Parts: sequence; C-alpha cells; structure tokens
Amino acid sequence: MKATKGRNVVVVGTQWGDEGKGKLVDWLTESAQGVVRFQGGHNAGHTLVINGVKTALHLIPSGIMRPGVKCYIGNGVVLSVGKLFEEIEGLEKAGVQVRDRLRVSEACPLILPFHQALDVAREAAREQGGVQKIGTTGKGIGPAYEDKIARRALRVQDLKYPERFATKLRELLSLHNHILVSVLGSKNFDFGAALSPYMKDGEVQFDAVYDEAMRHAELLKPMIADVSRELNDLHAEGGNLLFEGAQGTLLDVDHGTYPYVTSSNCVAGNAAAGAGVGPGMLHYVLGITKAYCTRVGGGPFPTELEWEKEGTPGWVMSTVGAEKGVTTGRSRRCGWFDAALLKRSAQINGLSGLCITKLDVLDGIEELQLCVGYELDGEKIDILPLGADDIERCKPIYESIPGWTDSTVGVTDYNALPENARRYLKRIEEVTGVPIAMISTSPDRAHTILMQNPYAAA
Ligand code: GDP
Ligand code: IMO
Ligand code: MG
Repeated sequence: MKATKGRNVVVVGTQWGDEGKGKLVDWLTESAQGVVRFQGGHNAGHTLVINGVKTALHLIPSGIMRPGVKCYIGNGVVLSVGKLFEEIEGLEKAGVQVRDRLRVSEACPLILPFHQALDVAREAAREQGGVQKIGTTGKGIGPAYEDKIARRALRVQDLKYPERFATKLRELLSLHNHILVSVLGSKNFDFGAALSPYMKDGEVQFDAVYDEAMRHAELLKPMIADVSRELNDLHAEGGNLLFEGAQGTLLDVDHGTYPYVTSSNCVAGNAAAGAGVGPGMLHYVLGITKAYCTRVGGGPFPTELEWEKEGTPGWVMSTVGAEKGVTTGRSRRCGWFDAALLKRSAQINGLSGLCITKLDVLDGIEELQLCVGYELDGEKIDILPLGADDIERCKPIYESIPGWTDSTVGVTDYNALPENARRYLKRIEEVTGVPIAMISTSPDRAHTILMQNPYAAA
C-alpha cells in the first residue's frame, strides 16, 4: 500500500529578522521528521531555550535539539564550512550528536575568506565615502551570493575535485584581489584577527584558502548529499518537513527595504527553490511576528522609537526584550508593531497563520500604539510601499490600544492572558487579516500558547 505523504510547514520571519523563528522551529519540530534551511548563511542567529538552557544556532537547523530529527542545509544556503564545523563542535561539546543527522547539499555555494574581506572592506568604503552603510553582519553573505548569480561560485560539489577547485579558485582570487587592492584600497586596511591568517599586502592568499578548503572537504564528505532527493523521499514516506527561514521578509532582496536588505529571498516561496522541492509541497506558511518591531543594521524603520532613554516604551522593548543581535552583538533598534508592514508580509508570503512572539515584553507599558497605515505625499496608504526611498518618507498612522499590568510571562493558556493583551492580539488579526495560530510568552520552549497546530492544519 502506498504511504500517505507528509505534511509540511514553512516558517518565515515577517519583519526584519530575529522574530523568534528558532524557538518556534524547535517547538514545531516535535511534529516533524526533517528540518531544512533554504536560504541565508551564518548571518542568521537563532536562539533556543530548552529547560532554561540556551543554544544559539547560525547554520544548523533549529530541529537539531530533537533527537532523531534529520537536519538539512539546502542548496539556497551560502555555506562557510569553517563556521559549520565550529557550530558542530560546540553542539557536540554540549552532548548533541550532529554528524549522523545533518546533510548538506552539494549545490551550496561556498563562503570563502575573500567574500568576508570584500564584505568588510565595502562597508568601510561606504562609510568613508559618506554613503550610509548597509550594516551587514560582515560574514561575506552578499559577495558569496554575487558569485553564485554570476555563475562563478565554488560550490560544495567542487570540493570533490581538487584540481578543478584549484583552477577555479585561482580565477576567483585574481578577480577579487584586484577589486580588494585596486578598488577598495585593501593594502592599508586592517581586516582584523579572523582574516589576517589569509591575507598579505591586502590580498587573499591562494595557499591559505586552498589548504583549508581541502581540510574542510575531508570533514564535510560524510555529510554531503542530494538534499532535494532526501527531502522528497522523506516526504513520500510520510515524514513531515519543516522549512526554516532565516532573516525576515523586509530583508528580502526583492521585497524588502532595498538596498538595506540581505542578498537572498527570505520569503516562503523560496523554500521550494532553496531546498529542491516543488511548491505544492509547501502546505502551511507560519509567519513569526514580534509583538513589536526590531531591526539591526541600517535602513528605514517607520515605527522606530527612541530606545536609549530609560523608562520609554522603546527602552522597555530593548531591555526587557534583551534586543541584542545573536550573531554580531549589536543593539537592535526597536519600535511599535507595524500592521501595515505585516500586510505586505502576509501578501508576499501567503501567510496561513501568525505566531506572535515576545508578548510578555510589552507587560506594563501603559498605552500601546499600533501602526495601521502611513501618510505618504499627503495620501493615506494601508500597506508598506516597496523600497527604501518611499518607506523613508512614510509617516505612521497610529491607533492607541490600552496596555496591561499583569504579567504574561510563561502563560500557556490564551484565556489566562489579560483582557487588554487579548484585545491587542485581536486587533492585530483584524488589521492584518491573518489568524493567530500561536503566541509565545517567554524564550523557553514550554512557554507557548497553541491556538491551531500548523501541522494539523497543513
Ligand atoms: P530568530 O533569529 O528569529 O530565531 O530570533 P533570535 O533568536 O535572533 O531572537 C529572538 C530572541 O527573543 C531570542 O533571544 C529568544 O530567546 C527570545 N524570545 C523568543 N521568543 C520569546 C518570547 O516569547 N518572549 C521573550 N521574552 N523572549 C523571546
Ligand atoms: P535571523 O535569521 C536580523 C541584516 C543585517 C543587515 C542586512 C544585510 O537571525 O533573523 P547581511 O550580512 O545579510 O548581508 O546583512 O541584513 N541581517 C539580519 N538581521 N536577523 C538576521 O537573521 C539577519 N541576517 C542579516 O543586520 O542589516
Ligand atoms: Mg536572529
């Protein structure tokens, strides 16, 4: 008899990243047999808290803490093999077995030291030239995706053929070293401790990159796989899959606040292309949404608040919400919930349901503001426009909603939430038009309110 096929859920960030995707992926993985990352790289920082123990993940899917669950890095991810093994070793020290459960697509483009050098040097050149920095994570993500699109990237599968790898690497290095030295003035640039072993006179050295890549090849070999095939097989056998997005919709290279975006498509549709499955396999799209907004790095943010002044709502979000980046340690900018931005996000992702996270952070704020639209050039609009230049000029239109004084920390039953918290959530549903499926009330896995299980609805 033919097995019933599995049901699959896509998890995406609906704002500017750091919405709490990691916590929810870990939670949902109770119902999944496989978890796959489909875009981004180690610019992501996903935090899991299980029984009070915190784990930060950058490349390894957030299903890794569930024994028996298979984890995949799909073709859409740009891969630093060095960073992957740092993460694997960290998890192994904590007693988590990784190598037998992790599979890496042979089509992943590699992030190599010159990508990071280009990323860092370009940001510095922007600053020197008086142009606003993107505020990248400095991990080489943008330059690695550029090489992929230009069809000159070295990919995981190139590690199998050392001679061809060497030839391609030489070509790539001559191009990128020329840019580093002649365009970006890298000779006089301090690249810091992480890159100095690879660099001499502003150029990235062939031997250092090649030797390391060959060591990495040996380590990676047992994990290299045809991820597309494995995912399709698991699905056909009845296994449920989870597609784990990184970054967030407003950081998407097409739909975000361009040019202040990352270099991949972070939206749900890319889950299919970035993992190697058909779009019909994406059954339910869960949009992870903070109960307020944050953003790290440059770019427009219509509902941004001052967050450094003690006692202000922005300060509460920043301090109670512990809004510091997992990957770079930078403070995140904070602001009111933006329902007009969420409408854009719902439209682009085809959201089936929302998971509202960090509701507890708003406890005690007397009055909340909910952005329901903007004024742009004297006209009222109810959805975020496309691109930074228009978004920068948007003036938010707010609706006031009374806050609540009781604590919501750790609440796991919707009816136990303060009445005003429920009113706030209802209003978010009404304005965005997307039902709330889940609510998170602390970093801990256990502190989650379930309204509708995405796997049951998928
Ligand atoms: P991701 O990148 O979307 O996975 O999110 P991050 O892990 O970068 O940032 C979310 C932060 O909020 C982490 O420190 C989480 O532990 C924390 N967090 C997640 N959900 C909640 C919540 O409901 N309440 C509180 N207070 N913190 C949460
Ligand atoms: P997770 O998965 C928040 C931001 C950077 C910068 C822009 C471009 O944890 O939500 P990049 O290094 O990607 O070229 O930087 O994107 N950014 C993130 N912001 N969360 C992330 O990931 C991010 N990954 C990249 O701060 O503004
Ligand atoms: Mg994060």
